Amino acid sequence: MPLAFSVVHVDASAVSAGVLAILCPKGSLVPAGLTALDDALGGALSRSFARGAFVGKRDEVLHLSGGATGPERVLVIGMGVVTDGPAALKRAAQLAARRANGLNTASMAIIVPTGLNAVDLEQVVIGASMGAWEYRELKSPPTEPRTTLERISIVVEDEATAAAGLASGESIAAGYSLARRLQMMPGNLCTPDALADAARDIAARHAMDVTVLGRREMEALRMGSFLAVAQGTPQEPRLIALEYRGAGDARPIVLAGKGVCFDTGGISIKPAPGMEWMKYDMSGAAGVLGAMEAIARLKLPINVVGLVGAVTNMPSGTAINPGDVVQASNGTFIEIVNTDAEGRLVLADVLHYAKKYDPVAVVDAATLTGAVVIGLGNSLMGVLGTDATLVQDVLAAGARASEPGWELPLWPDYEEQIKSDTADIKNTGGRAAGTITAGLFLKVFTEGYPWVHLDVAGTAYSENDLVSLPKGPTGRPVGTFVEFVRARVS
Ligand code: BES
Ligand code: MN
Ligand code: ZN
Repeated sequence: MPLAFSVVHVDASAVSAGVLAILCPKGSLVPAGLTALDDALGGALSRSFARGAFVGKRDEVLHLSGGATGPERVLVIGMGVVTDGPAALKRAAQLAARRANGLNTASMAIIVPTGLNAVDLEQVVIGASMGAWEYRELKSPPTEPRTTLERISIVVEDEATAAAGLASGESIAAGYSLARRLQMMPGNLCTPDALADAARDIAARHAMDVTVLGRREMEALRMGSFLAVAQGTPQEPRLIALEYRGAGDARPIVLAGKGVCFDTGGISIKPAPGMEWMKYDMSGAAGVLGAMEAIARLKLPINVVGLVGAVTNMPSGTAINPGDVVQASNGTFIEIVNTDAEGRLVLADVLHYAKKYDPVAVVDAATLTGAVVIGLGNSLMGVLGTDATLVQDVLAAGARASEPGWELPLWPDYEEQIKSDTADIKNTGGRAAGTITAGLFLKVFTEGYPWVHLDVAGTAYSENDLVSLPKGPTGRPVGTFVEFVRARVS
């Protein structure tokens, strides 16, 4: 059941929720307006502040038991020294919801710092929704029934301003939830057909057009690169196009995603330890579908096409071998020297297909290289593109969504690394500058429009439990896509 959000204008002491979370910047005194609550708690709040038991460091949590009336429990959540308001609010709300969801209660109220605008409120809603998110579909119900969070009310001064942020926050949160669910689904359930069904479902609910191509249609379009990956698996590959029309016949933005539902590496097989993480190799596709869901809910007056290249990368008797040469739909001959560099083979044909929409811009997201994890770690996505303004727009969008990225150059010298003796190009350029040579490979297929590529291999999921998020899918870059598109609304 999705979380229900509301905004209320009440005194903190009158909140009747199971948990009251107070989001608190560092160094603040007991927040104004909480005197009655403090009294109800027998002065526990002011004593904790006075004794330095709570100072408001980022991710600090003070857990108090409620009084005879008002909330049953109080969580004071530290925001640290706030330099980026929306990001700090999102993080604190996320932590609050994550903690509250483990406290066996159905309802939480959140006290936010004073003076928040709709943008701030939006981040509180997104953060709280993400913090409470769980994937329980493949777990048997617990023997001891547990109450999970169902309702969150945000205590605000001005309900009218807050309502706008609430609505848009819920739309974006729905996009993240959709993406994270698809990401979390294992490879035997999240197949290319399942991604196509997810796209059809979005299309049906929001009256969008959806086109799903299979092997035969891709053969007709001479997509030899995408099909080379698909030839090793009996599963039907799917090229999915989801068209959102909010602005009549205007030229669209295209969002494209790598949807490798499981990446074994193919004949260039990956080592066994940790291979299970490769169910997340469809995270770019999940990001696109999540963004399309959010954009439709936001009813943005703009045209957006979501493209997904969905396939599974398997070794088999029919699989491609290292050294094989295939021809992509734009005519380029590709020598496949490593079958584990499959994402770029899929995206090659998807990016060329994007041209038919005459797009104003194309942004793709892919868990493309291990090298981006070495270079930028798990906080920053790699951002590469052919148009400096577009790169800056995408970086700014990522910053607004607290999904920061860092630009890497499409340095022409490195094109040398992907030259092939046999064909036009080869699909890997060795270890040096691995994320950049992958970007240079993709660039070959992006003629005719400005393009930015997001390498989200380090950020789309987390192999470790983070303070504000559990290990697993992060939903990135849903927020970046949505912020980018939203800023383009004229
Ligand atoms: N899906 C992987 C990239 C990846 C690595 C994603 C780690 C998430 C975490 C991609 O298909 C891949 O295997 N890339 C190779 C390319 C190499 C063979 C040139 C890599 O990065 O090792
Ligand atoms: Mn691979
Ligand atoms: Zn891959």
